[in-house]
Amino acid sequence: MCGASWYRADGEILAADGEQIIGLSALGYFENADGPYMFVMMTGVDRAYRGRGIALALKLVAIRCARRYQAKFLHTSNDAENAPMLAINRKLGFRPEPGNYRLLRPSL
Ligand SMILES: CC(C)(COP(=O)(O)OP(=O)(O)OC[C@H]1O[C@@H](n2cnc3c(N)ncnc32)[C@H](O)[C@@H]1OP(=O)(O)O)[C@@H](O)C(=O)NCCC(=O)NCCS
Repeated sequence: MCGASWYRADGEILAADGEQIIGLSALGYFENADGPYMFVMMTGVDRAYRGRGIALALKLVAIRCARRYQAKFLHTSNDAENAPMLAINRKLGFRPEPGNYRLLRPSL
């Protein structure tokens, strides 16, 4: 992963409680015809630490990272029913775009 073209070490943002890693926001660097952009691939917080604003803080640092790379935009994706993540993304100014539908068939 560290050798991937999109990998940036400072795009792997960790939250720690002492020695214990309790949260992560990971973003990658990409380019298209308009220039550089970044993609937040994953934000997660240990269950015991949720609801304290840690994901919001991680994502603010992710935005700072995207600015450092002069990204034209910052993209992310999440499940349409993931209310906490949607709340954070809305608060930070992410705008919804049409997404994908996943069709699941229960095993028979
Ligand atoms: C999504 C996740 C990262 C949030 O982490 P967190 O540190 O608890 O988030 P924060 O405390 O910064 O903010 C959560 C916000 O969601 C809100 N929220 C929580 N549950 C909610 C619900 N059911 N409906 C609406 N809003 C909700 C909180 O009120 C808070 O907003 P506020 O600060 O305005 O009150 C965490 O739940 C997680 O790790 N989930 C599993 C991984 C995941 O789904 N990641 C996202 C996809 S990549």
